[in-house]
Amino acid sequence: MKRHMGEPFPNVRTDDAGHDVVRVELAERSYDVLIGDGLLSEVGPLTAEAVSGRRAFVVMDEHLPEHVMHTVLNSLESAGFGTTLTVVHPTEANKTLDTVDRLLHEIAETAHERRDPVIALGGGIVGDIAGFAGAVYRRGVPVIQCPTTLLSMVDASVGGKTGANLMSRTGLRKNLVGAFWQPSLVLADTGVLESLPERHLRSGLAECLKHALIAGSTPLALDPADAMFRWTNEILLKVRMGDAELLRRLVSRSVALKAAVVAGDEREEAPSSEGGRAILNLGHTFAHAIETIPHLSPDGRSESSPLHHGEAVALGLVCAGACAVHLGLLDEESLRRIRVAVERLGLESHLIGLPPDEELIDRMRHDKKVLSGRLRLVLPTAIGEAVVVEDPVRESIFAGWKAIRAGR
Ligand SMILES: NC(=O)c1ccc[n+]([C@@H]2O[C@H](COP(=O)([O-])OP(=O)(O)OC[C@H]3O[C@@H](n4cnc5c(N)ncnc54)[C@H](O)[C@@H]3O)[C@@H](O)[C@H]2O)c1
Repeated sequence: MKRHMGEPFPNVRTDDAGHDVVRVELAERSYDVLIGDGLLSEVGPLTAEAVSGRRAFVVMDEHLPEHVMHTVLNSLESAGFGTTLTVVHPTEANKTLDTVDRLLHEIAETAHERRDPVIALGGGIVGDIAGFAGAVYRRGVPVIQCPTTLLSMVDASVGGKTGANLMSRTGLRKNLVGAFWQPSLVLADTGVLESLPERHLRSGLAECLKHALIAGSTPLALDPADAMFRWTNEILLKVRMGDAELLRRLVSRSVALKAAVVAGDEREEAPSSEGGRAILNLGHTFAHAIETIPHLSPDGRSESSPLHHGEAVALGLVCAGACAVHLGLLDEESLRRIRVAVERLGLESHLIGLPPDEELIDRMRHDKKVLSGRLRLVLPTAIGEAVVVEDPVRESIFAGWKAIRAGR
């Protein structure tokens, strides 16, 4: 059944406290994602409802304001939890098995039992490594995700992908190790985004834009397919200016979309013809190639390198659009709309210093999404619709790169 943008999303409800609640339906692994301002002050009672253990191991992002730490620890302790806190320096270079190993040793030093939760309090890096530690400690303990960046609220904290990078001779192999381990609860306190630097806010908005660009091809089946794109475009500037209510609604809708996709294909196993969870990778294979090149930066200045994940995704959306145009799947006007939307986010749609096409294709092949040596690209076919394309011709991929290549 097709659904209009004005209708409430079918998997979002409002609880008595006024928070939006999105249910991720995965049979016995189902859980709620709560979205609202001030939720972290309720982390204690909400965690107590979700898990039976009473010892919480909290993994916190180093850059969070101190009051956030106090709020979380006070709430947990008032609800009867014994707490242990550890702090993580969140960089991709530190998102490694060494850091996971450190966390596991620290968890083991507390009297942490099977039912006690690991609480991930931070952006996607903290969420991924704390989630992975939770997935493997005693073969899995409950994990509560408390995302504190926009990107981790709308993407990383929902869906159960956890993991770490591997450092190899050729450089960083992103998210090469990991586990599917669904959280028991996700608390997205949008108030905590107040301290998030603007660059990271824009990075998260890129994932929201990606969601808008696939909304018609997901189980939500929005009609018309570009409805979420138009709405997102309409509110973007206000969100960037600090409209907290619109930001909350954007998070809810984005989470609802991701939850619906994950519920339909938890482990990304659907065949390419059906899309499934792979559809969330729109722009990501291009993005993957550029975010592993350490010297690239959005403005060509070395101080701003490397690219952030969302910045790379935004560029990847333009590449995917141009590749689709070359293949005859998308019209030029839609590609123009994608580029304009990226620029409205305050993100670059061109990049200085890209290496030659051959090197970029090679890097694309290192992406986890490669299957039997075949590249699987998610490409737009209209605004709001996308398909999985296996091994498109090289010329079309080159056309994708050409669309973002700027002179030195
Ligand atoms: N598991 C998944 O499904 C999934 C999906 C998408 C991305 N990811 C992963 O997520 C990571 C990117 O996540 P991210 O964009 O959240 O980056 P991040 O975790 O690096 O956080 C960005 C920066 O913001 C800081 N920060 C976090 N919250 C803050 C706050 N409230 N106030 C001030 N500063 C704050 C962090 O310290 C960090 O410096 C990547 O490693 C990516 O691979 C995972």
